[in-house]
Amino acid sequence: MILVTGGAGFIGANFILEWIAREGTPVINLDKLTYAGNLGNLASLKNDARHIFVKGDINDRALAARLLKEHQPQAIVHFAAESHVDRSISGPSEFVQTNVVGTFSLLEEARAYWSALSGTAKNEFRFLHVSTDEVYGSLASNDPAFSETTPYAPNSPYAASKAASDHLVRAYHHTYGLPTIATNCSNNYGPLQFPEKLIPLMIYNATHEKPLPVYGDGLNVRDWLYVGDHCAGIRAALKKGQPGETYNIGGNSEKTNLEVVNTLCAIVDELRPQGAPHAKLIKFVADRPGHDKRYAINAEKIRREIGWQPAEKFETGLRKTVQWYFDNPAWIDGVTSGAYRAWLDLNYGSR
Ligand code: NAD
Ligand code: DAU
Repeated sequence: MILVTGGAGFIGANFILEWIAREGTPVINLDKLTYAGNLGNLASLKNDARHIFVKGDINDRALAARLLKEHQPQAIVHFAAESHVDRSISGPSEFVQTNVVGTFSLLEEARAYWSALSGTAKNEFRFLHVSTDEVYGSLASNDPAFSETTPYAPNSPYAASKAASDHLVRAYHHTYGLPTIATNCSNNYGPLQFPEKLIPLMIYNATHEKPLPVYGDGLNVRDWLYVGDHCAGIRAALKKGQPGETYNIGGNSEKTNLEVVNTLCAIVDELRPQGAPHAKLIKFVADRPGHDKRYAINAEKIRREIGWQPAEKFETGLRKTVQWYFDNPAWIDGVTSGAYRAWLDLNYGSR
């Protein structure tokens, strides 16, 4: 039994689906179901007793304490967060509340639970904190990739809130001995990603013949990782990671945003020729304030110590992703409601 937070979101849902398929042991999924959470992501587990869904906030300490006491999980895998940089710029408050205070609340309850354990249960318990490469700040084009010892330099409210949560996780290991493991991962893409992030937004817009809004000059670089590879990295870190350690997870796949959008348009052209060439929809719009220039992950530590490395190549992963969105129009319709359109107006209306 493991407790997953944020398991109705993009990566959390992929993680739970794969966990149940591969490990077969039960998962309690604590999720507040914000705009980013969607139980439809886990529809295939509807009648599966191994998925126990609990709607709730990680800030609800009584609820977390009760779940830990009742289910006695051997690990907590903590995904729950506000995760979109642009939303953190227009409204940072929820980011502090969930990412910082929420992680603190969960750490407190995990500490109380773990302290009362004994023997193997205590030795084997893990608190795995899922974090991001954005905590390290921005790289110049010739800088070496982020390693686990790169100093923290978060630039957006989102990155700062994740950095704060990472520091709390580190402190709970250092001070209380809580067996924490932290993973800092690069940009994920794949099925079930909410269409506010670059890749699913561009797929959605391209298929609806809408402009493809590229921020600034489109030359910012991200290091893309297929979500299934991220989930495999987390499972590996949970099994083989050392308490107190951090592992960077990345795709060895640096691309400019323009490269990503052009590759994606070429795939859409091939799979849905109507409206081709979709690249004609690219529209350069006002840049994101404080936009980080480049992220790149050095994932050598997790490869060397744990044996994990990405399996998916960007081009094949992107093709699978586009195909998944084409195959799941009902999922898209379900998440592109009035609230979604209000977000598009707020973020893109005056760009
Ligand atoms: P997401 O926004 O798709 O999902 C977040 C989930 O957390 C949602 O289901 C939401 O309902 C839930 N949630 C939010 N606030 C909550 C609260 N207070 N209590 C309980 N549940 C709450 O996010 P994602 O892209 O799946 O990211 C998951 C984690 O991975 C985050 O911690 C994020 O920082 C990290 N991460 C994401 C990426 C990426 O590229 N998406 C890369 C590296 C790290
Ligand atoms: O690096 C890991 C991080 O990756 C995660 O921690 C975050 O949760 C995740 O959202 C992601 O952050 P980014 O800001 O890099 O992702 P996003 O998809 O929002 O943007 C990717 C790049 O594309 C970035 O340089 C901004 C640009 N962009 C984004 C959007 C939404 C555009 O040019 N146009 C857009 O409309």
